[in-house]
Amino acid sequence: MVLPATTSWTRTTVRHRISDDELAARTARPAFGEVLTEHMVSARWSAERGWHDAEVLPYAPLTMDPAMVGLHYGQVVFEGMKAYRQPDGSIAAFRAVDHARRFQRSAARLAMPEPPVELFLSALTELVAADRRWVPSAESQSLYLRPILYAVDPCLALRPGAQYRLLILAMVTETFFGEGAPPVSVWAGSRYARAANGGTGEAKCAGNYAGGFVAQVEAAEHGCQQVVWLDAAEHRWVEEMGGMNIFLCYGDQLVTPPLSGTLLPGITRASVLTLAPELGLTVVERKVSLEEWQAACRDGSLTEAFACGTAAVITSIGRLVTESDTDTIGDGNPGPVANRLRATLTGLQRGLAADPHGWRQQLAGPDS
Ligand code: PLP
Ligand code: COI
Repeated sequence: MVLPATTSWTRTTVRHRISDDELAARTARPAFGEVLTEHMVSARWSAERGWHDAEVLPYAPLTMDPAMVGLHYGQVVFEGMKAYRQPDGSIAAFRAVDHARRFQRSAARLAMPEPPVELFLSALTELVAADRRWVPSAESQSLYLRPILYAVDPCLALRPGAQYRLLILAMVTETFFGEGAPPVSVWAGSRYARAANGGTGEAKCAGNYAGGFVAQVEAAEHGCQQVVWLDAAEHRWVEEMGGMNIFLCYGDQLVTPPLSGTLLPGITRASVLTLAPELGLTVVERKVSLEEWQAACRDGSLTEAFACGTAAVITSIGRLVTESDTDTIGDGNPGPVANRLRATLTGLQRGLAADPHGWRQQLAGPDS
């Protein structure tokens, strides 16, 4: 049974909501990942029943079978998207349908059922209704929404699950690196690879991130905040970062690696590809080697580089570090191209500019 477009939800809210003072204290400086809201949504899927048991619940630890497939074999996919308080008090998510579709593609890649777009949107609407007071209005903040789908069958047989749970959590956040953070330093090592042809690189599956942590630790040992992933075959071609896509700026020309199947098709990346020409910039999707990046730092042709993603928004890259070299990008400071794109993108997300592409998805109306 597929849930109808107007999914019916069972709603259980927290018995005692936290006070306004407590809410203000918790959300004053919300580091990424730390300030979760009071509710979550849940739905289940089984081969016999399809999607069912759609519920809004108080945020709480889960009970799980220790033999759960998702836990043992990593059959887990997730999404990351944001909702923003609009000037009239309403709440809009950015490109929610695109996130829903990527969630479906990630699920399909891991042999999981694809959550219907209507269920995804209805779940977001329910969560935002339950946690409306958590949606911040501060310019630097947003509500980060984290859908996750995982296999729950209590069975160690090595095969895809037949029972799944979908959860959506929400948290209040500043940008990933903190508001007004200086440009990041990035580490391009040759020891590890994130994704190979035919692998899961273009899916947002949990295992991709677990596999990257060791390189993240290596990056930190070299004084860097992020890893630049190079292709697995030659360790030569720039692909993306741990949770962001990459753009290099040669003056007004933006270059980004093409979607080769091994990198995540970022929705912020797609937005930059649309917005940049509207700002008079040119964009090229082509392969970029690490040598090109280093040479362009040295001959001055590379004026800026930035990372982009839902959590990071648009974050300038100041330094590129490898086993043998450290290069500064431009003068090491945020550049005008990244600044313009960030202002344009966040203006759209926050409802401060017209939305010609229909990217804002209203989840809740103005305060009544
Ligand atoms: N690449 C990876 C590996 C990511 O985890 C993310 C974040 O979701 C991105 C790129 C950027 O994607 P998006 O702009 O859709 O957030
Ligand atoms: C995002 O930008 O939404 C991400 O998923 C990056 C990371 C926090 C996993």
